Amino acid sequence: MRVLALESSCDETSAAVLHGPPDAPVLDSLVILSQDVHRIFGGVVPEIASREHLAAIVPVTRQALRDAGCTLDDIDAIAVTHAPGLVGALLVGVSYAKALAAARDLPVIGVHHMEGHLFATVLDHPDATPPFTALLVSGGHTMLIDVAAWGTYRLLGATRDDAAGEAFDKVAKLLGLPYPGGRHLEALAASGDPDWFRFSRPMLHGGQQPTDPDYLDVSFSGLKTAVLLAVRASDDLVRDRPHLARGFQDALIETLVAKTLRGAALHDRRRIVLGGGVACNRALVDAMTTAAAARGRTVFAPTPRLATDNAAMIGAAALFRLSRGERGDASLTAHASSPMPGLVDATTRHR
Ligand code: KG4
Ligand code: ZN
Repeated sequence: MRVLALESSCDETSAAVLHGPPDAPVLDSLVILSQDVHRIFGGVVPEIASREHLAAIVPVTRQALRDAGCTLDDIDAIAVTHAPGLVGALLVGVSYAKALAAARDLPVIGVHHMEGHLFATVLDHPDATPPFTALLVSGGHTMLIDVAAWGTYRLLGATRDDAAGEAFDKVAKLLGLPYPGGRHLEALAASGDPDWFRFSRPMLHGGQQPTDPDYLDVSFSGLKTAVLLAVRASDDLVRDRPHLARGFQDALIETLVAKTLRGAALHDRRRIVLGGGVACNRALVDAMTTAAAARGRTVFAPTPRLATDNAAMIGAAALFRLSRGERGDASLTAHASSPMPGLVDATTRHR
């Protein structure tokens, strides 16, 4: 089966062509057009995002088909992100996918964006298959998931306030870095002294038990406030900026690593799979890899191109869903938020 996949949930217009069995998808082409315009506003402007997607979706799709050396005649199904995300942005991809499918009499399938992030890593690492513990860290979500099999997901923990990427972006803004600030903050932190500022690790202390409500959840808004107070208290911000970045990043990473290892230990998973834009962060990947190796576990992280939003991950998830006989129909539409298919919320017992 060969699938054409589209992604337009936020500020990347992306198209990809993939083929192969669902457990070993092969990427034929991937085009990602990032909407730079939002930098001017310091955040994504939904109306502008929709208009940019509308201008880009046809040429981006044509380029993906050209790069794969095929035409629509070679495509067996169309896949598209239908949730969660900005509704106006999602609708561009969904409408175009439905139109293509109707014109070509092809099946169309809607894919949940976060399930896409779960499938991104297997495109780089064929061994990143279930069972595994997944940490998805993006601009809008932070989820710790036990993946017993593709399609069988248990939410172990989540953020109670800001997503990890959101915390990176907000702290980056405090430090005067451009939007989106995650990678700029990582670069600044590289020259920071880890002992200059030590922020407390949110929801992380030695006495916690698996039955405690905060054992696997995370929270980053208090950490963000701690950085804000330190910025205000600083008498030399030029000197302190790299140290503040380092102190923030170390606290966030240590928390994510500890919670992920707790999740892996609870379900005795040997493999840990990272996903989402924050998985581009080398310090996070390295810290997770070292800590996991000490406990006999292996970490798989996607390359930055597949960690951030892209259509290849949507196509990989679609190959799995299509192999189960799932198909969308004319009622397929966009949703700002919707539960991930197959996800059981094990965290509700905590709340
Ligand atoms: O998954 P993604 O591309 O989009 C969403 O689905 O939200 O994630 C984007 C997020 C942004 O918050 C961005 O700052 C963050 O990923 N990010 C990083 C790094 N690269 C991207 N955060 C920390 N370190 C990085 N190197
Ligand atoms: Zn994403």
